Amino acid sequence: MNNKPIGVFDSGIGGLTVLKEIFNELPAESTIYLGDTARVPYGIRSGETVIRYSLEMADFLAGKGIKLLVVACNTASAFALTAIKERFDIPVIGVIEPGARRALEATKSKRIGIIGTEGTIKSNSYVNAIKAHCGGKAMHIREHGVKRFDRYFEVTLDDLTIFTKACPLFVPLAEEGWESDDVAVLTAGHYLEGLRREPIDTLVLGCTHYPLLKNVIGKVMGGDIALIDSATETVREIRETLRRRGMERPAASGPSRRFYVTDAEERFLRVGERFLGSTIGHIERINVGL
Ligand code: DGL
Repeated sequence: MNNKPIGVFDSGIGGLTVLKEIFNELPAESTIYLGDTARVPYGIRSGETVIRYSLEMADFLAGKGIKLLVVACNTASAFALTAIKERFDIPVIGVIEPGARRALEATKSKRIGIIGTEGTIKSNSYVNAIKAHCGGKAMHIREHGVKRFDRYFEVTLDDLTIFTKACPLFVPLAEEGWESDDVAVLTAGHYLEGLRREPIDTLVLGCTHYPLLKNVIGKVMGGDIALIDSATETVREIRETLRRRGMERPAASGPSRRFYVTDAEERFLRVGERFLGSTIGHIERINVGL
């Protein structure tokens, strides 16, 4: 038993999709959420910068006495998970490994699609996580498409074929609340055109914001494609880790739920409540990395 909170950080608002799953699945747990709204987005930055920002975010949460750290941001998980794990003694859980594992379980055709930010796709971290899981060896990468939005990658890994594609505009679309709008359908149509031609049966939503566009993505991809939501898989991993280490919080009293941001509390509140599906209440603004 352990009463300490779980720390969750993201580049901004998107990690609230992971927090929402924690609230739903682990309602007794206290949480501290930190969104780096001053420096969002992480998805277009270099790996080096994402590592620096992420370590600063993790430092702040570790200073609050958390029992477990969740790196809710896919881009931060892609670049900084190893550096964070090396720095802290507490368990650190990212969103990439659970999503990759679930995709491997779900695919029957052995053809998997992965979408995410430019950084996440460039890092190849989902592919590497799949490779580590299936013990894959021979890897071959081929590029398709010439125009910016056409460009996607085909990775052959033994008997698996993985298609990866960056979909950067999905992030502002979700934040604007246009996830069911014609603009979202059109954008998804452009981005997913290449992947639609490939007979994939599983698609990983490798970005915090993409679960909000699940309906549109599912409609554009068509058929019975399995959409893997990293947030759902990550919460399974959190639950398992807490149970294994005997660190669950007893449900005797209500949990505490705190929110910190590095800028623009008003916007975080307005957009965030839609992502979280519940009220946020008090938000505190803090400085990190100064
Ligand atoms: N949270 C980021 C992710 O999941 C998306 C937004 C950003 O680019 O910072 O990759």
